[in-house]
Amino acid sequence: MTRQATSPLVVLGSGYTGRALYGTAMAAGWPVCATSRDPLNHLAEIPSDQRVMFDLEQRSTWENIPPDADLVWCFPATPLAQVQTFAKTLGATPRRLVVLGSTSAYDVGHSQEYPPPWIDESAPIDLTKSRVQGEEYLRTEYGAISLRVAGIYGPGRNPLDWIKSGRVGSSRRYVNLIHVEDLATICLLTLDKGKPGESYNVSDGTPRTWKDICETAQQRWGVTAAAVKEDCSSGKRISNAKLRSELDYRLRHPDLYEALDLIESTHSPS
Ligand SMILES: NC(=O)c1ccc[n+]([C@@H]2O[C@H](COP(=O)([O-])OP(=O)(O)OC[C@H]3O[C@@H](n4cnc5c(N)ncnc54)[C@H](OP(=O)(O)O)[C@@H]3O)[C@@H](O)[C@H]2O)c1
Repeated sequence: MTRQATSPLVVLGSGYTGRALYGTAMAAGWPVCATSRDPLNHLAEIPSDQRVMFDLEQRSTWENIPPDADLVWCFPATPLAQVQTFAKTLGATPRRLVVLGSTSAYDVGHSQEYPPPWIDESAPIDLTKSRVQGEEYLRTEYGAISLRVAGIYGPGRNPLDWIKSGRVGSSRRYVNLIHVEDLATICLLTLDKGKPGESYNVSDGTPRTWKDICETAQQRWGVTAAAVKEDCSSGKRISNAKLRSELDYRLRHPDLYEALDLIESTHSPS
């Protein structure tokens, strides 16, 4: 996906996803910069002319963002007051803004339904959450496109490790995941084709129970789940229909187990 526009892309917050996005954008020939609160130490591998010091909590760093840049916001958009003040400095310049939110924004209340109902972008969101307030402010006041992102995995963030360490255990709870490579490509696609002010769920479209994942982990990779207290909640089932239909996105990693095979064979110590 080669970019037509000349405005640079700035990745706000270059952690796990931000770095993948920076790499994907570079590979596709986009003019791109990456920000960090500590660029010298955290972005040492990125050329100095593409590193930008930016901290939402430090107003003096805001002017480092080029005025015509498109932005992908890759850290929680909170606290609200700071988000509002920063957004006002972005001014009226026509620019694209994509903000990464989370599927945790969806408020399912105390529903006992099982399996849980599918959730699309029209489902109620929990506006008591500070980051949801920040995302909604950017979406409704600044035309930001909000991506409600499922659990992010990929090389270095491997669900098999979460099972081994006991961070998750075998349970009936549904989980929704997205490979970081898909997420990075979706961010670029959203900048090009997303509608300002819209929200899109970002997930591989196949919610699975942790029981299913743990059993497959045992059978395919010999990974034994650590003993943890059973989680009886139902989780969510996130629909990615809008992403597929409106952005016409075809997932590179639609199948978690094939993606884990790839990660295990290419990124695990032998
Ligand atoms: N992890 C998941 O499974 C998951 C699931 C759904 C949604 N999300 C959301 O998706 C986004 C990307 O997730 P991620 O896991 O890739 O994030 P991440 O690895 O935590 O990276 C975010 C980076 O943003 C920078 N940052 C943090 N606070 C900042 C601030 N106040 N001002 C400026 N920069 C700041 C930090 O880098 P420096 O220290 O270098 O500044 C941090 O490494 C986040 O909003 C996350 O909440 C994550």
